[in-house]
Amino acid sequence: MADEVKQRKIEHVNIALERDVSAPQRAGWSDVQFVHQALPEVDLDAIDLSTTFLGQPLRYPIFMSSLTGGHPDVVNINRNLARAAEHYGLAMGVGSQRAAILNPDLAESYTVVRETAPSAFLIANIGAPQLIQQADHSPFTLEQVQRAIKMIKANALAIHMNSLQEAAQPEGDRNAFGEVEAIKQLVQQMELPVIAKETGAGVSREQALLLRSCGVSAIDVGGAGGSSMSAMEAARSESRGDERTMNIGLLYRDWGIPTPISVIEAGTANLPLISTGGVRSGLDAARALALGATLVGIGFPLLKAASESYEKVCEVIESTVAQLKVAMQLSGASNLVQLRETDVVVTGASREWLSLRGFDDELKTMAQRRWRRIQQLVQQDTPEEPIAYRYNQI
Ligand SMILES: Cc1cc2nc3c(=O)[nH]c(=O)nc-3n(C[C@H](O)[C@H](O)[C@H](O)COP(=O)(O)O)c2cc1C
Repeated sequence: MADEVKQRKIEHVNIALERDVSAPQRAGWSDVQFVHQALPEVDLDAIDLSTTFLGQPLRYPIFMSSLTGGHPDVVNINRNLARAAEHYGLAMGVGSQRAAILNPDLAESYTVVRETAPSAFLIANIGAPQLIQQADHSPFTLEQVQRAIKMIKANALAIHMNSLQEAAQPEGDRNAFGEVEAIKQLVQQMELPVIAKETGAGVSREQALLLRSCGVSAIDVGGAGGSSMSAMEAARSESRGDERTMNIGLLYRDWGIPTPISVIEAGTANLPLISTGGVRSGLDAARALALGATLVGIGFPLLKAASESYEKVCEVIESTVAQLKVAMQLSGASNLVQLRETDVVVTGASREWLSLRGFDDELKTMAQRRWRRIQQLVQQDTPEEPIAYRYNQI
């Protein structure tokens, strides 16, 4: 079992780097548009991107998504990512730690992250399916989960929810019954904050509320439209000649709730949100943050960069930051709080979905945030302090 998990970890990385594993149906970020401010009154170079996530101050609202670990060949990738996490003050996740929980000899590919990023906010990672009884293995014990946390001296624990991936995996865990109770129990036993994290199929309003009732501290919506774990499993099945599982992986390659929609749906739970899944530019990042995300998760672009060099990772981060700042300036936001008060118009298929799901009022409010503030000011207007002056403060 330990060798099988180890082998799978390197196959995922190689497949992601060598083949196109993105979901054919894109996340739909272009459905989310800012209302341009011709006179934004914001200095591009003075924009403040600092934020706080689960009590930790961060320099940028960028989360380096949980990607890898568990094979000697990925040590360098994790080192490059961790070096950038430390340099830029970012939160970073490691990939599932199952491999090293089962075989401590593989711990180096994870421990390298804390060694390289002594002060970064690091997030441990285990899977929800491994918290319950499966046909061929027992649930992780509390001691095993704590081992994963200690391995990287983590600041938080992510529990990934990946039923789709397991269903498309030749050797996948098929049981998902009991995960809710298992997460609830684990959260109660944890001293660290627990983040519930999807891996490409998104989190709905109702599931976000369920997760809140389990006591999780944050949700990574891991929406559809970016890297598809289902596509990765299809490629693994293909190489094994397992046609039936391969077809499942291909069929469900773009199953799920697109990321921007999921940010709005999961926002109902009022928990800190990470928007991961298909974020491919600083403009996508700005859209996610304006919709209510606290952090934006980036997976594949950072994996690809880290497989090349530390400098490439820096380039991805710096260009994302530069692009994000332009969206902020043009929508009149000089910090992330103001970004969440900008006018955002959701159209197209995303709007259709959200409307049918009962989010019409929220969409209207988001599209008219500035106008509503102006109307409130008009009502309070006095000659001593004319509205025109106050427009500058909106
Ligand atoms: C090669 C690869 C391995 C991954 N392994 C994990 C994992 O072990 N645990 C996890 O929670 N997510 C894992 N993910 C999912 C990512 O954290 C992220 O949710 C996904 O890549 C979507 O983001 P993207 O579209 O920016 O790539 C993996 C993604 C890739 C590409």
